[in-house]
Amino acid sequence: MTESIQLADVSRALFLLSMDDGDQALAALTANWEPSDEVLADLTSALATPTAAERARGLGDAFRDHALPHDHANECYRAAFYFSGSAEELSSNPLYAHYLAHRSGAILDKWIHYFPVYHRHLDRYRGRPVRVLEIGVYRGGGLDMWQRYFGAEATIVGLDVDEAAVRAVDGRYVVELGDQEDPDVLRRINDEYGPFDVIIDDGGHTMGQQIVTAETLFPLLLDGGTFITEDCHTSYWDYYEGGLKREGTFIEWVKDRVDDEHSRYDLAIDRTTVWATHLDGVHVYDSVVVLDKAERFRPFSEVVGSSSYLRSDRLAESYLADALASRDQLQAELDAIRGEVTALRDEMDRTVDRSATEVIENDRSARLALQRMRRESVETNAELERLTTDLASANGRLLESWEQIRLMRGSVSWRLTAPIRGVRRLMSR
Ligand SMILES: C[S@@+](CC[C@H](N)C(=O)[O-])C[C@H]1O[C@@H](n2cnc3c(N)ncnc32)[C@H](O)[C@@H]1O
Repeated sequence: MTESIQLADVSRALFLLSMDDGDQALAALTANWEPSDEVLADLTSALATPTAAERARGLGDAFRDHALPHDHANECYRAAFYFSGSAEELSSNPLYAHYLAHRSGAILDKWIHYFPVYHRHLDRYRGRPVRVLEIGVYRGGGLDMWQRYFGAEATIVGLDVDEAAVRAVDGRYVVELGDQEDPDVLRRINDEYGPFDVIIDDGGHTMGQQIVTAETLFPLLLDGGTFITEDCHTSYWDYYEGGLKREGTFIEWVKDRVDDEHSRYDLAIDRTTVWATHLDGVHVYDSVVVLDKAERFRPFSEVVGSSSYLRSDRLAESYLADALASRDQLQAELDAIRGEVTALRDEMDRTVDRSATEVIENDRSARLALQRMRRESVETNAELERLTTDLASANGRLLESWEQIRLMRGSVSWRLTAPIRGVRRLMSR
């Protein structure tokens, strides 16, 4: 008898489950191991569930709840996924399809539940000439997957601290050697190959690495870009300096970013940081955090849906629309007359400038032409003055309309919305 259950026995039990043999599965689990009564009770009740998928999931839960090795639960959940048909459902996801078809390629170690998350946030970049940075290359399996996913026009760049990663990709991709916890390394890679549309941090997963990488590269990401941090469960694991609600973990850092998103609602939050101005979305999934970058407009609220449009506002607004239309018409006429005046002045200047000989030769007709132009100029100036006065009065009427609308809003909508304001005041106490 062994102290803990061996992985080989778990695998044998899962194989028997796939053939619907629950009794033999329990026998396989307990062949070399004597579980405590409590554990045995949980395993037995897991195996009493109706389907192979539920049984495998129940075994995984029992292993996890009793703190048995992580790999055992992993194998059970993996079997449950395949028994349940979820693999078939997910196979329409191009990343998962690549993963399935890639069994003999470069090593690719992925948590399967990341694929739907990636596809939800990255699908819009496919087939476009985007720049993608993957931090943590290992043997290049991820780079192959991203290139296939984003398409031939995409440029995929890698960063890894281990020279073996550079050797493994063998020049098929640019892979820079460097430590992701060094902001200078990150800035250099951005200067040389960025700015990036997409950054995926799948590097060392320690708190310092994840936080420094996000703080350095998110501000440099293209507007509209996506920043993804993987394996955020390390925020809960001692080995990675994690711990539930422990200060300094990446997940606690992310919670601060949620506060930054709300900087407009509390003066204590700095509203000048890149997180307050350019963090458009924080998406927290199981072990994956996605940050959307986009400059945000200042939040404001507006009321529609009141009945004010049924009341006299409608009249005032049509009056205002008429006033605006006639003002625009006058403005156009005024512009046309100004153009004519300029043309006349130019013509007069040209006439006056004609050579003295010409004037002497045709003195009388030149004088007559000059007199006619002066007359036309006086008339045009009078028209100009009249239009300017009309425009001033149209603007005056416009102001009156605004005032009328303002007064109507004051008397109707303000009264109608008074109960809403009362409720808001009560709620804010
Ligand atoms: C989980 S693997 C990456 C797997 C890869 N993304 C894939 O999909 O196949 C993690 C990689 O991060 C690298 N790494 C660890 N610490 C790092 C650091 N401080 N800076 C850069 N890379 C680091 C490791 O050398 C390793 O190759």
